[in-house]
Amino acid sequence: MILVTGGAGFIGSNFVLDWLEAMDEPVVDLDRLTYAGNLENLRSLANDPRHIFVRGDIGDFALVAQLLAEHRPRAIIHFAAESHVDRSIHGPEDFIQTNIVGTYRLLEAARGYWSKLTETEKAAFRFLHVSTDEVYGSLGPAEAPFSETHRYEPNSPYSASKAGSDHLVRAWHHTYGLPVLTTNCSNNYGPYQFPEKLIPLMIVNALAGKPLPIYGDGQNVRDWLYVKDHCSAIREVLARGRVGETYNIGGWNEKTNLEIVRTICQRLDTLRPRPDGNTYAAQITFVKDRPGHDRRYAIDARKIERELGWRPRETFETGIEKTVKWYLDNPEWVAHVQSGAYREWIDRQYGS
Ligand code: NAD
Ligand code: TYD
Repeated sequence: MILVTGGAGFIGSNFVLDWLEAMDEPVVDLDRLTYAGNLENLRSLANDPRHIFVRGDIGDFALVAQLLAEHRPRAIIHFAAESHVDRSIHGPEDFIQTNIVGTYRLLEAARGYWSKLTETEKAAFRFLHVSTDEVYGSLGPAEAPFSETHRYEPNSPYSASKAGSDHLVRAWHHTYGLPVLTTNCSNNYGPYQFPEKLIPLMIVNALAGKPLPIYGDGQNVRDWLYVKDHCSAIREVLARGRVGETYNIGGWNEKTNLEIVRTICQRLDTLRPRPDGNTYAAQITFVKDRPGHDRRYAIDARKIERELGWRPRETFETGIEKTVKWYLDNPEWVAHVQSGAYREWIDRQYGS
């Protein structure tokens, strides 16, 4: 049994689906179902007894302690977070509460549970913390990609709160001996990503005939990784990663935002041509830049390859093709997350 936090979000739900496909080990899935959490992502598991969903907050110490005592997981995979940079600029409070205070409380509940395990169980237990490359700050065009020893230089409220959580995880290992692993991954894309992030936003806006808003000059660079590759990397780190270590995960795939949006437009021009025959690229609009916008992220993923033999399977071309097709094939999912009907349904079904 493993405990996953944030398993109804974008990466967490992909992870849970992949996990239960790859192995027969049950998952307790703790998620608060914020705007970003969506049980529709997990609909295929509705009648699967290996998936136990619990709506709750990682900061609810009593609830987490009770779940740990009841299910006795051998590992915690911690995805739950506020994850969107633009939202963190408008309202940092939730980011501090969930990413820092929430992670602290989760660590404390984990430590209480772990300290009472037998010596064998203690040695086998893992707390895997899922983090981001954004903690390292912004790179210049000629700088080497982020290695695991790159200094922490977070620039947004989001990345600062994730950096804070990384430091807490590190300290709980060094001070208390909790067997932790940390992964710092680059930008993910793929099925079930909430259409507030670049790639799904551009796909749904394009199809709706809306502008494709590119911040600043569109020359900011991100290193894109298909979400299923992130999930397989996490499984490898959990299985064979060295306790107390951090592993950078990336796609070896740096692209400017403008390149990304143009590629999406090209794929859509082929797969779902505009009725007027024009290209979707005509909808590209340059808008005001994001405050403090990091210029470039790039990951040096040699350590995870050297130690664990992991490399991404998808190229950007294959991954973006799958992603665009997924959004074309799932208009209901898109409509529900956009309409707010999903939120109303959850509140009616589960209460507050
Ligand atoms: P997401 O926003 O799609 O999902 C977050 C999930 O956490 C949601 O289901 C939400 O309901 C849940 N959640 C939020 N606050 C909670 C709380 N207090 N208690 C319980 N559940 C709560 O995020 P994502 O893109 O899937 O990212 C998952 C993790 O991976 C995050 O920790 C993020 O920092 C990290 N990460 C994301 C990316 C990326 O490109 N998306 C890249 C690297 C790392
Ligand atoms: P995003 O998906 O929000 O991820 P992050 O900020 O965590 O890297 O944004 C990816 C890049 O796309 C980032 O440089 C900001 C840019 N961007 C736009 O140009 N327009 C948009 O509407 C959004 C959401 C992002």
